Amino acid sequence: MRKLAAGNWKMNGSMEALAELKTLAINHDAPSVDILICPPAIYLPSAAQKLAGTAVALGAQDCHPGVSGAHTGDLAAEMLAEMGASAIIVGHSERRADHGEDDATVRAKAEAAHRAGVIAIICIGETLDQREAGETLSVVQSQLEGSVPEGATAENTVIAYEPVWAIGTGKVATPDQVAEVHTALREALPSALKEARILYGGSVKASNAGEIFAQANVDGALVGGASLKAEDFSPIVTALEAA
Ligand code: PGA
Repeated sequence: MRKLAAGNWKMNGSMEALAELKTLAINHDAPSVDILICPPAIYLPSAAQKLAGTAVALGAQDCHPGVSGAHTGDLAAEMLAEMGASAIIVGHSERRADHGEDDATVRAKAEAAHRAGVIAIICIGETLDQREAGETLSVVQSQLEGSVPEGATAENTVIAYEPVWAIGTGKVATPDQVAEVHTALREALPSALKEARILYGGSVKASNAGEIFAQANVDGALVGGASLKAEDFSPIVTALEAA
């Protein structure tokens, strides 16, 4: 399975900022890893036009579990797929915190992604309190168990380990902390998912990517802030190619 450098723009970007995608695609015309950018869903059609025929794939940041219906403001996985998403992030800690999403919701959203024929990137991770209480491994294992749906395979599912305390804080987990959790997750994965990619996320940037990618069972990264500009994200892609 190819490694994956994924960017999550969150609620950032603009039509003008889509030019970064073009630069990214030019920087990596024949990458040896998969490259994915998840802009705000409203920009998917324009982004898809810009990236047609390139090696940079597009994804979405969330979806509704249902196919259609009375859900004002929501987007179905099928709609996102139709507009060019080949993957959907589900269960990001910001959605778990801001929208009260629990494991059952995340699992239903991952199922929706699979139903639409796209990859579900399932996010899990402990809070600072949980880490300090020594609960990290039990928390992520229980999130994994609760969030991964039936029918998940290494092809249609990616796991992203994102310690909540490391997201957007500049505090990156140490290489040992990353290795410990990723190895535990690999062991905990059900057999259909044994080879699934496990990404690390949380303040990844060019200066720390190399040592994170050198850790066992790290198959790429989910990058927030450093994915917004091609000049920041490209060195991360290159570090992953070199790992
Ligand atoms: P960050 O975000 O790289 O800005 O810390 C990571 C994420 O939330 O996916």
